[in-house]
Amino acid sequence: MCGIVGYVGNKEALPILLEGLKRLEYRGYDSAGVAFIPSGGKIGVERAVGKVAELEKKIAGMQDSGFVGIGHTRWATHGIPKEENAHPHRDCKNNIAVVHNGIIENYQELKNALCARGHVFRSETDTEVIAHLLEEESASLPLEDRLARVAPKLIGTYGLAVLDARSPEKIVAMRLGSPLVLGLKDDEYFIASDPAAFISHTRDVLYLDDREIVALTPQGIQIFEGGVQKKKEVQTLEWDVMKIEKQGFPHFMLKEIHEQPKVIEDVLRGRIDSKEGLAHLGGLRDVEKKLREAKRLIIVGCGSAFYAGSIGKYMLEEYAGIAVDCELASEFRYRNPVFNEGTIVLAVSQSGETADTLAAVHEAKHKGILTLGMVNVVGSTIARETDAGIYTHAGPEIGVASTKAFVSQVAAFALLTLFLGRQRNMTSVMGRHIIDELAALPEKIRIILSQQKDIEKIARKYADVKNFLYIGRKYNAPIALEAALKMKEVSYIHAEGYPAGEMKHGPIALLDSSFPVIAFAPQDSVYEKMKSAIAEIKARQAPVLVITTEGNTEFSQGVDDVIFVPKTIEMLEPISNIIPLQLLAYFIAVAKGLDPDQPRNLAKAVTVE
Ligand code: F6R
Repeated sequence: MCGIVGYVGNKEALPILLEGLKRLEYRGYDSAGVAFIPSGGKIGVERAVGKVAELEKKIAGMQDSGFVGIGHTRWATHGIPKEENAHPHRDCKNNIAVVHNGIIENYQELKNALCARGHVFRSETDTEVIAHLLEEESASLPLEDRLARVAPKLIGTYGLAVLDARSPEKIVAMRLGSPLVLGLKDDEYFIASDPAAFISHTRDVLYLDDREIVALTPQGIQIFEGGVQKKKEVQTLEWDVMKIEKQGFPHFMLKEIHEQPKVIEDVLRGRIDSKEGLAHLGGLRDVEKKLREAKRLIIVGCGSAFYAGSIGKYMLEEYAGIAVDCELASEFRYRNPVFNEGTIVLAVSQSGETADTLAAVHEAKHKGILTLGMVNVVGSTIARETDAGIYTHAGPEIGVASTKAFVSQVAAFALLTLFLGRQRNMTSVMGRHIIDELAALPEKIRIILSQQKDIEKIARKYADVKNFLYIGRKYNAPIALEAALKMKEVSYIHAEGYPAGEMKHGPIALLDSSFPVIAFAPQDSVYEKMKSAIAEIKARQAPVLVITTEGNTEFSQGVDDVIFVPKTIEMLEPISNIIPLQLLAYFIAVAKGLDPDQPRNLAKAVTVE
């Protein structure tokens, strides 16, 4: 989704802004722009539709761009992707430039009133109203005070940064529901919607909270809330620039698929006690007693995070004996969910910024419910706003389609199952068994990854199909949905995921010889059921690709393709079974000449509703 980067310091701003915008490319966008203040003191703005490289061409060779600037990657919400709609947006007199993430819901009303007062708009965006509203405030006031006066007029969500040619050494920024983080390095200061934008310069960061306004100058930063200056603590990020580079892989998606053995190791590190069969989750320590007494858990999330939660539900019910619901955050927020005593809400989110998931957290908090987060991005809004939580430690995920973050969430659910299970009825023997199986996963994933060439061949065979059906049962039912989501996201092939038991209730009508089915059939408690489903599919002449347990010879005939995965316990099958399907989706996208890292229309963090 939209990205913001800003810089003040002692270096030429434009190259730093461009580098920052490139590092934000992964979030998904359709146009980009920068505003800067050269020594002449007039604001310069350059914008381009398409990749940041297009913007770069426009500003190539530009000198003396000054030492302060803001940049933006836009993901269209109001108005099609065209240069006039790209940010930054200016006021009538070209004194002010604004970049904005989020949505101003009352922009039309504000725009009508501004037009009636003589303002002339140059874009169809909601953002432009902010520049014009700032224009109406007295220029004798500091820019941060003007922004504080404008903010109450805006309904919606925003992370925004502003330049004013009349205070040429300053950036002012503010957030409400859309992330902003400051980077600090000696006498250089950065502002961005994601620290990836400045991570090559500094790892010292400071996260802004809602309604805080910050003024950045080469002399330092000042943070205000309600007109009062406040101090905040600087944090040091653990990850570095290496983690957000491709390191020899052709795409981030492939790199991140290959990182998964390490991701499992990182999720488990320091958290398992093999002797006692226990999980230690430091982030839950303060709420341990409440968790012991919890009667019901409601997991909320979107997309892949929702599917990870659905797998978590199966695990927690089977091994921890706690009632669990898993809900799409986008629906949960508008229902009137019933919270009984002892209900806990757990929000699952890679980015920690997904608007719907955050809204579900707010709803639960409003009703006085204990909220937990299962989040990847340290310091993100959901991580900070929930009462306690578990970090998934997948490291920065750059590919828009989630791979390693999803797997880290499923592994974190296994840890949570151990944690809650051992608080309840799970024996230490069972705890140790799960831990042994978890610890063996990285090696098993490496074995699956070593079949990459074979999977690539299968991918080439299916690259031209128009549809896929994915089926699985029990733990593999949500995996069928997740695998189908991966396929549609990166290859644009229509792919449906279904619990296999539902096939006869409708989707079997779709099948013919041109409609391949991918069936998860490991040798587990529902294996025989899956075999019957596969037989029914074959009877309709649909091509079948089966994912089954290593050493199983039962599919040596009668199906079209087989991918073998090492045996693990049923609750961990989703982790091993999704890996070949991530690879399949990736290689089909590549075979079709698509960019799997930045699928069309998609954004990495969905910070608007
Ligand atoms: C799918 C995908 C999305 C996200 C969803 C939630 O590959 O990436 O479906 O899982 O947008 O995002 P987070 O986890 O950041 O809340």
